[in-house]
Amino acid sequence: MKAQVKPVIAFAVELLRPYWRRLLVAAAIGCLNSFAAVSLLAIIDRELRSGTAASLSALAAFPGFFVVMLASEIASGAETGFIGQEIVASLRKEMTKKVLLAPIPEIEQVQSHRVLAALQQDVGNLSGFSRALTYFVVAVCEVLGCAIYLLYFSAPMFLASAAVWAGSYLVTRYVLKGAYATLADERAAYDELQKHYGALINGAKELKISRERRERFYRGELVSTIHRLRDVINKSATLFLAASALDNASFFLLAGALLALAPHLGADTATLSSFVLAILFMRTPVSMVILSLPEFSRVRVSFEKVRELSERFASLESDLLAEGAPAKIEFKELELRGAQYVFPHAAGAMPFTLGPIDLVLKKGEILFVTGENGSGKTTLVKLLLGLYPLKQGEIRLNGELVTDANRDDYRQNFSAIFFDFYLFDDLIVADEAASEAVRSYLERLNIAHKVTVEEGRLSTLELSTGQRKRLALIGTYLEQRPLVVFDEWAAEQDPTFRRIFYTEILGELKRQGKTLIVVSHDDRYFGAADRILHIREGKAVAEGHERPKDGPAPAASTSP
Ligand SMILES: Nc1ncnc2c1ncn2[C@@H]1O[C@H](COP(=O)(O)OP(=O)(O)OP(=O)(O)O)[C@@H](O)[C@H]1O
Ligand SMILES: [Mg+2]
Repeated sequence: MKAQVKPVIAFAVELLRPYWRRLLVAAAIGCLNSFAAVSLLAIIDRELRSGTAASLSALAAFPGFFVVMLASEIASGAETGFIGQEIVASLRKEMTKKVLLAPIPEIEQVQSHRVLAALQQDVGNLSGFSRALTYFVVAVCEVLGCAIYLLYFSAPMFLASAAVWAGSYLVTRYVLKGAYATLADERAAYDELQKHYGALINGAKELKISRERRERFYRGELVSTIHRLRDVINKSATLFLAASALDNASFFLLAGALLALAPHLGADTATLSSFVLAILFMRTPVSMVILSLPEFSRVRVSFEKVRELSERFASLESDLLAEGAPAKIEFKELELRGAQYVFPHAAGAMPFTLGPIDLVLKKGEILFVTGENGSGKTTLVKLLLGLYPLKQGEIRLNGELVTDANRDDYRQNFSAIFFDFYLFDDLIVADEAASEAVRSYLERLNIAHKVTVEEGRLSTLELSTGQRKRLALIGTYLEQRPLVVFDEWAAEQDPTFRRIFYTEILGELKRQGKTLIVVSHDDRYFGAADRILHIREGKAVAEGHERPKDGPAPAASTSP
């Protein structure tokens, strides 16, 4: 049991540390609340004992304590709630920042459904934590206030009550132990459900056309996980309920025990009735503490998940959130010398190795990268963009070595449209002239009738894949970076546009002084290249400078 509760407390302390002053104020207000509540209790108790009509002083004091009790409960509750949300907000910021700063290989390895579960469910649980915290602070103060009140009446009776209550609580904790054990299973089932949800949406088309897969997925996986989650939640809820019922019942046990013990402990009837009244009053706050425990333990599981993810993304790159654009440089030459990348080792398979590759790229060149599927073209592109770390070798830009410290500045020299590109719905448009340019590009790319741009925001992304890639191309025009990378940009384009891309757009970009790296399978248009780098199984096998005589030449001159 201790091993279960301790990490929760250690975790709570860790999370709350930055807010201890504010929490102290909330706790003080909570104690004021308990003071007012216990005072009201004492007034009621005294008036009951006196056996006469309520005294004037009691009638005068009652509303005062009442207002204080009400106001302080709201104030301390609100403040602890605010602190809880503060914690959640800072965790959200910290977690998303970690993902933002994580190196690409780590992001590619992590299972996205687990990241989503951590960001949604777990951080959500931490807001439940703030609510539990509210109960907890106020309830603990109330229990302490009552304890002092009772101690003042009769120390032997107080000690007897504490002993009986502690005994019954041991039983309650035993049940709670079983309940805690179910929480990890609950979380695992939830993770799995999240994964199935992903398949449900992303695999909708595949599921529609295969009855066999649909059956297997729905009954075999989805429903069984849903049922497992239901059962495990039922189990933990029942155990927590039993713990709370035991706790409730313990107060009646306590009242009964006091009735039996009072004559032996020298307590008169008046003292006994004060005790019973106070103990029944304490029932609510104590149960609140007990009931908030599952919330705390869920938080513990969530915290572990969040921490696990944090540790996964521990190797952050230098602060990518640093503001300000890097100094614009005049691109002259990019050099890869003995560059090599090895994928992280996967069980049962030899990791793919790219390189070592030597490559020099001069301003205004069009380099085509060709090769079979899986030969390493995309990997090379990611290496060139500084998205994958070099295992060996070096990259130099204008002769200057790319290091961890300047890698992010280095990346700012590139525009890239990846094969699995993501299109943000806002274009980085600097001014009205740029907006005007966007409109003319939209015309040019034959999508002006589908999309408009208002204040840099695209009116829709509900377009075909080929059309969306054209929008991405506009982003590239706007970015004005010296190096542009296309990873099979033309794969989804119709024959007309494919031709326009290879014979007009590439040449135009070249004329603007850009250096192009074009991954392509379109051998018809290899003639558009100044040079071709052919990759086989991760190695550069041929580098051709000459363009096939029969291929179309780009409408370009070498001068920028
Ligand atoms: N995330 C990954 N983890 C481990 N190995 C990977 C990963 N991605 C790719 N690989 C390995 O790297 C090799 C090269 O992949 P890459 O994507 O660079 O090929 P490509 O030449 O771009 O192929 P395609 O023409 O199909 O786009 C693959 O054969 C695969 O074995
Ligand atoms: Mg590829």
